Amino acid sequence: MTRPIYLDHSATTRVAPEVVAAMEPYMGDRFGNPSSLHALGREARAAVEHSRETIAMHLGANTKEIVFTAGATEANNLALIGAAFASEERRHIITTAIEHHAVLHTAQWLQSQGFPVTVLDVDAAGRVDVDAVRQALREDTLLVSIMAGNNEIGTLQPIQEIGTMCRERGVLFHTDAVQAFGKVPLPMDSVDLLSVSAHKLHGPKGVGFLYVRRGVKLVPLLHGGGHEGGRRSGTENVPSIVGLGAATEIAFSEMEKLATRLRGFRARLIEGVAGIPGTRLNGHPTESLPHIANFSFEAIEGEGLVLKLDELGVAVSTGSACSSPDLEPSHVLRAIGVPMSTIHGSLRVSTGRGTTPEEIEAFLEHLPGAVEALRAFSPFKVGDRRVH
Ligand SMILES: Cc1ncc(COP(=O)(O)O)c(C=O)c1O
Repeated sequence: MTRPIYLDHSATTRVAPEVVAAMEPYMGDRFGNPSSLHALGREARAAVEHSRETIAMHLGANTKEIVFTAGATEANNLALIGAAFASEERRHIITTAIEHHAVLHTAQWLQSQGFPVTVLDVDAAGRVDVDAVRQALREDTLLVSIMAGNNEIGTLQPIQEIGTMCRERGVLFHTDAVQAFGKVPLPMDSVDLLSVSAHKLHGPKGVGFLYVRRGVKLVPLLHGGGHEGGRRSGTENVPSIVGLGAATEIAFSEMEKLATRLRGFRARLIEGVAGIPGTRLNGHPTESLPHIANFSFEAIEGEGLVLKLDELGVAVSTGSACSSPDLEPSHVLRAIGVPMSTIHGSLRVSTGRGTTPEEIEAFLEHLPGAVEALRAFSPFKVGDRRVH
């Protein structure tokens, strides 16, 4: 199979060769259990702790504040459920309508367990209003969970202001930083809990961490041998944790340079797509993660466009990233009020470390023809306001 032009880095990324090389020994000779006392065990422990130190150093955190998990879904669950069940009096949780389902569905589950939840709306660009958060805070609010940058439309949130406000009110602040970590600086001083996943930054799948500020009480989700300071039992996934550390090191050493390059690609994509009639940019024009651009095209289905582009050797994703078989439009696009006439025709283009200017140009060359071909078969026309 010839390798496609990969513009779906928000979904996942290729494991960097340096990361593979760092992981390999821990799937071979260095197979010890970090809890074992012998030399093989100590070697594995040293590798896990080295990774923890790397991450803590780049976050300006203490190593005790890093809890390794099996990815960000678990980290988000641990943050919300762990904080909720550890809280003695406060029970109210605030989040937003555009969170990843790993936060939204967890919050809904907590609601079913008797924790009141407020879900805040966002504006047309996907931004949360700091005043709306302020007004939603109650005497019994225990936690606010607002993502750093959105995985579908890229919009960045004012997490520094929100986190600072929460701190002043004695409320915990959690941020899902899966898409932002290693791409933009994070205001760690304002954050109590922060979730990260390795596979979005050229690390392996199924590993991540939760940053837990010192003093924050969490009830563990997994009970057992008391690993990770009692917060997450289970033998550590040594090769993957080593990969996460290596990926973090690379991401932080390149962050500024990479972000500038990706921002340039985003600007070029926005400019190029604007030349096609009946399109719109979803998200914020400037307050955005550098690597995500989300567009809607009138009179076509996003899934059709993804498949057409796939035939042409370009891997992108529908803006809706539908996970349900009934192809319901994305909760994020609905929350920002994308008109029903275009909500089904959305496309998310996300760039990464390996993306080249030539790939962006090739995509922009293929796109108008693909859109036109699909529109030729559509019962709808550009400018048609009928819902489809
Ligand atoms: C914003 C955000 N949060 C959480 C997740 C879940 O991460 P993981 O795949 O590590 O469980 C993702 C991945 O799609 C994401 O983009």
